[in-house]
Amino acid sequence: MKNFKIDKIIKKKNKSKLICLTAYSKNFSKILDGYCDIILVGDSLANVLYGMKNTHQIDVEIMIRHAQSVKAGVKKSLLVVDMPKNSYLTKASAKKNAKLILKKTGCDAIKIENTVKNINIVNAIVKSNIPVMGHIGFTPQFKKKFKVEGENSKELKKLLNLAKKIEKAGAFSIVLECINKKSSRKITQEIKIPTIGIGSSQYCDGQVLVTDDILGLSGFYPRFVKKYANLDQIIKSAVKNFKKEVQKGIFPKNINSY
Ligand code: KIV
Repeated sequence: MKNFKIDKIIKKKNKSKLICLTAYSKNFSKILDGYCDIILVGDSLANVLYGMKNTHQIDVEIMIRHAQSVKAGVKKSLLVVDMPKNSYLTKASAKKNAKLILKKTGCDAIKIENTVKNINIVNAIVKSNIPVMGHIGFTPQFKKKFKVEGENSKELKKLLNLAKKIEKAGAFSIVLECINKKSSRKITQEIKIPTIGIGSSQYCDGQVLVTDDILGLSGFYPRFVKKYANLDQIIKSAVKNFKKEVQKGIFPKNINSY
């Protein structure tokens, strides 16, 4: 069955850069929707929202809750939801959980982190008519220690092979996370579906970042993040003013009272 929203994303390859950001709730997705091609409910919410040390404890139910909130603010962007670790270990559980996420949230697609061992899972989900975004390079569900990937020709060969397999399995795009510039350029040139980079250079077909990072809310600013705002300072100043005005009896005034 033809999926026009997905086709639109694929057709942007070599034409215009794809814009993707994460959202975990409606107030954010409502704003992002005006500017993004893709909004991702990433399992990074584990670290960013819940203060966990990795993404491993997040389950399908939590992803569904956040995706429902995000969906309430989305009118036009493609809504992609991360499948949490251990929710796609077998073809049967992957299909069951992907279907549940789509049914409960009304999202357009799911994302899974890839290894050579789960290409059959991509294919199984795609065959049940659910669009899949792949994810290679530094994949936090599978890798404990941060490392830039694709730094030599052997690593590039492995990544390229994996990307081609994911494409063949039917994915509509692939996130390249923290992959060396030359390697991400080669992968982007060699596959027909769009690559969405995070820490993987300007050569990708699009870029994704964690919204809380670019707004200065997360406190996590590795080299690949650019802080476009210091919302932490704006929030601090608003809260400080509220405190001061309540203490001095300036707020609430009659106009704020019933
Ligand atoms: O979980 C997430 O937010 C992600 C992006 C960083 C790509 O996977």
